[in-house]
Amino acid sequence: MKGAFALKGNFAYTPACGQLALKPHGILVYEDGRVTGLFDGLPERFKGLPVEDFGDKLILPGLVDLHAHAGQYAYRGLGMDMELLSWLEHTAFPEESKFSDLAYAQEAYSVFVQALARSATTRACLFATLHRPATLALMEMLDQAGMRCFVGKVNMDRNSPDILGETTAQSLAETRLWLEQSAGLAHVKPILTPRFIPSCTDELMAGLGRIQREFALPAQSHLSENLSEVSWVAQLCPNARFYGDAYDQYGLFGGDCPTVMAHCVWSGPEERALMKERGVFIAHCPQSNMNVSSGIAPVKGFLLEGQRVGLGSDVAGGAHLSIFRAITDAIQCSKLRWRLVDQELSALTLPEALYMATKGGGAFFGQVGSFEPGYELDAVVMDDSALPTPRPCTLAERVERVVYLSDGQPCAKYVAGRRLF
Ligand code: GUN
Ligand code: FE
Repeated sequence: MKGAFALKGNFAYTPACGQLALKPHGILVYEDGRVTGLFDGLPERFKGLPVEDFGDKLILPGLVDLHAHAGQYAYRGLGMDMELLSWLEHTAFPEESKFSDLAYAQEAYSVFVQALARSATTRACLFATLHRPATLALMEMLDQAGMRCFVGKVNMDRNSPDILGETTAQSLAETRLWLEQSAGLAHVKPILTPRFIPSCTDELMAGLGRIQREFALPAQSHLSENLSEVSWVAQLCPNARFYGDAYDQYGLFGGDCPTVMAHCVWSGPEERALMKERGVFIAHCPQSNMNVSSGIAPVKGFLLEGQRVGLGSDVAGGAHLSIFRAITDAIQCSKLRWRLVDQELSALTLPEALYMATKGGGAFFGQVGSFEPGYELDAVVMDDSALPTPRPCTLAERVERVVYLSDGQPCAKYVAGRRLF
């Protein structure tokens, strides 16, 4: 039982969407890289196993950020009075162009990686920028920090300013070189990242489709985020049946290509049917959807129809990296949607949103995001004594308070069985 150990504390997790499982003063046994089980006491056969005792603290699965832009962390909270396309033009693109300077990129990424490593997030799907050396630097830093992430060198060969452009040939050649140069990393893996359809020519998409099949890579992009973007895509791609079809035409929409699509606020029935059929993961990014005036995604509807859904911070469309914050944002805007838009879809509950933030998004990484047997061990230990109240709280209430009130910083964190702090 090399590397086996046990954790002791108050466990909370969501084995199914909307179902909060609690194990007060439980013991989790971890062996051979997987959770063996969660028990009331240490079973006889595990006597002698080292036990890390977290006393009365809460232990939750590590949170999953299914969509964020590492290259945008440096300017989070800026330019938030603009709609998506203006924000891209006036804030995101000029800021991302700075990552051509490797020294600047290293400084910016080191701040980002420190923040992510300290947070309750254990896995993330990240956009870098189009710059290969900076993207490699980010991947190395994340790997060093012990994080498990997918990271994408962004591809964009049209509708971009001169300061942030690449030709089709450059984009494809740089992508191949980046794949070669990142191949040695143990825990941080590449993910193909066409920025979104307005940024990518058909030729680039076709080339990325070929690379996807050659290297069996996953992919991530943006989909049906904002109304002005959706109508632009309809003009750019008259042959696409709907926005998602413009990815699907190049084999970059689920199926053999594990895919995350961020937002999906305006996805219509055909697009949703294809996402479901192909097992496309939806990254719901509620704060970004509010900041850049995209709208409120029908997430409850996604859950009811059996879509695969996780949460994303979408920094810097979202200003906050905390996935606890994404949970409460998702719940709150689902309530506004229910009241103001569609009385048929009730609001999200905390166990539903916690599920999306853990097991829902975690499924993109394998068996991740739960404490069930066979799962990898991603766990965060939350000390709610920093949130004093004279009122006695049940364990479920303590979980709710931590989600709504904590600053999101765990006191201990395990990623794939390794304790980071
Ligand atoms: N669509 C294309 N690029 C971006 C981006 O950087 N952020 C968001 N929110 N949407 C995008
Ligand atoms: Fe995004």
